Amino acid sequence: MVVIFVPKETAGGETRVAAVPETVKGMQKLGLLVQVERDAGAAAGFSDKDYADAGATLVDGDARHGADIVFGIQCPTVAQVRQQKPSALLLCTLTPLQQLDVVAALRDAKVSAMGLEFMPRITRAQKMDILSSQATCGGYQAVLLAAVHLPKMFPLMMTAAGTLTPARVLILGAGVAGLQAISTARKLGAIVEANDIRPACKEQVESLGARFVDTGAPPDAETKGGYAKETTQEFLRKQREILTSHIAQADVLITTALVPGKKAPVLVTAEMRRAMRPGSVIVDMAAGQGGNVEGTVPGQRAVVDGVTVIGDTNLPAQCAADASRMYARNVLAFLGEFVKDGKVTLNFDNEVLAAVTIVHDGTVRHEPTAQALAAHGG
Ligand code: NAI
Repeated sequence: MVVIFVPKETAGGETRVAAVPETVKGMQKLGLLVQVERDAGAAAGFSDKDYADAGATLVDGDARHGADIVFGIQCPTVAQVRQQKPSALLLCTLTPLQQLDVVAALRDAKVSAMGLEFMPRITRAQKMDILSSQATCGGYQAVLLAAVHLPKMFPLMMTAAGTLTPARVLILGAGVAGLQAISTARKLGAIVEANDIRPACKEQVESLGARFVDTGAPPDAETKGGYAKETTQEFLRKQREILTSHIAQADVLITTALVPGKKAPVLVTAEMRRAMRPGSVIVDMAAGQGGNVEGTVPGQRAVVDGVTVIGDTNLPAQCAADASRMYARNVLAFLGEFVKDGKVTLNFDNEVLAAVTIVHDGTVRHEPTAQALAAHGG
């Protein structure tokens, strides 16, 4: 019988888990035997008993050796990869370009590795899209963090002690995370503005009750897949010029702007940040990709010139139960692409499978990773 192993995540600050009791049941319906490492879901609020009741077998970490499929949220270590048996599968957020030594170990161990972040943004794959599900959690959490750190409430309040004005929230980047941040901030009663360079965003922003700050769109702003392209420095300079007054008026600034494969664009300079009122809050969701705000330190929270700057790099881990639930459902849907009646069949005519399989049968299939590995003598 094909055995799945769900590990307890070992990366610092990671509280999520890649399978939840609900998806354990789903995996059994696919004909798989599910082993869950003891305590794997504890930090996300799922007990060992919950997993056992759902039909999983509780095991120790060394069960990785015998598994046919290993799940993960984060990329494993080289040592963990070396514990996997040849021709076993690994499904996780692989980030192969940042993990070349792990990729080399996967190749040498003949493990097939699927980087779930490479899921194509097509309608059929929406239910398997971990980037969207985790960005949804991140956008929500960013607003809550900002609300907690802001010395002012979000909604308009008319009380016996007088009227309190609503908070003003500005969101830069209106992709999945940004749209969720708009929706959450609106639900809390804030006045929300948002900006993006993709023309399609205006309507989406307005449909959520926010005002679109139009900084223009560069010609050819968007890739075929719907992602933003890198803009020129000249465009960015003009964009910053328009944004400056909006940033100065904001109580909360949430930045989510990313360009796949590139460093995040700097949308807010230190000078623009200094124009914000003392007590204002910035959540720079792009901190891990270089930051949208000059001076954000990834993983740190600091008060800089009176403004609280939050550079947390794993916001989904702060709402671990639902982030895990969504990730686990994404993974279960993906398993349905290649597991049937307890049998695994990898067919790379399937565009979803082809897109996410980074290493297979001793070969690195993802061209940019193969090139980077060769350049590093791997
Ligand atoms: P992302 O995380 O790569 O980027 C976040 C946002 O930053 C994007 O909206 C991007 O346009 C914006 N951005 C980049 N440079 C900027 C700049 N200089 N100033 C302001 N904003 C800037 O994007 P995400 O959230 O992953 O979504 C990208 C696209 O994929 C969207 O069009 C989304 O609708 C689409 N999508 C499609 C799906 C599907 O059909 N299955 C699923 C999810 C997303």
